Amino acid sequence: VVFEHVTYSQVARSTALSGRRIALVNSDEQGLDPDDFDRICAQKHPMMAFLMPTVHNPTCISMPSDRRARIAELARKHNVLLIEDDLYGRLSRDDAPMLAELAPERTIVGSGLSKSVAAGVRGGWLSCPPPYRHRIRVAHRLMSGGNPYILSALAARLVHSGEASAIEKRSIEEIRTRTALAGAALEGYDFNSQPDVPFIWLSLPEAWNSGTFKNAAFENGVLLDDEDEFKAGRSGQVFHRVRFSLSQPSHHSEVTRGLAVIRRLLDEGRAGYERFD
Ligand SMILES: Cc1ncc(COP(=O)(O)O)c(C=O)c1O
Repeated sequence: VVFEHVTYSQVARSTALSGRRIALVNSDEQGLDPDDFDRICAQKHPMMAFLMPTVHNPTCISMPSDRRARIAELARKHNVLLIEDDLYGRLSRDDAPMLAELAPERTIVGSGLSKSVAAGVRGGWLSCPPPYRHRIRVAHRLMSGGNPYILSALAARLVHSGEASAIEKRSIEEIRTRTALAGAALEGYDFNSQPDVPFIWLSLPEAWNSGTFKNAAFENGVLLDDEDEFKAGRSGQVFHRVRFSLSQPSHHSEVTRGLAVIRRLLDEGRAGYERFD
């Protein structure tokens, strides 16, 4: 299964758990690198590729249309099934076509309520080419034991009553406020973000390393993820970045306090941090 060097790594971990091998493909500032994808497909003959074309987690990149078209064409050429993770798709105003529109015969789309409505509801769905329908249902049942009925019923009610859309609208407004706070707090530093997306992919200035920055932030009361958290397999690539979420705190004051800690650590640099215990 093809993954980018940094990706939503829980999928990469479950891929490894189910005995599949992982093939890593390079990315650039527009997402998955088509030339490297072509090369890896020719060399390793992967069966699937996992992608997040709209709002990649953690890089926040949305692939432009021509890049998507190229990936779809290569998937067809090498007979690779595409897994299009669209969990953040509803939050973004991106109007590029989905991979599922460009290669409908070979794309499985996954999405759900967790990002824009409520993570605890566990309401999600897959949309797939018809021949995969039954296999996916069986695989889901065998791997998960099935979704608890009460959560499925709750998710369905939220959607059908219109309440999910109302919550989503409020969530997006709140996310916009928080990303604006982050933009102001991080002014002058290099980071990737999107106004409607509740996380930031922050580039660390010299001489911070990702893991050390995570420790320093943690000791100052801020929990964030270092880049290793997002590595599919044992990637040798180094990004000197961290990702942090803006959605966990209940109040703006807490978001502001966390951002101030991050800003102070960036300003002071690694020289201002040492562990003496
Ligand atoms: C890109 C991506 N896909 C899938 C998921 C899983 O979402 P859920 O909480 O619905 O399991 C996440 C959650 O962080 C994610 O970031």
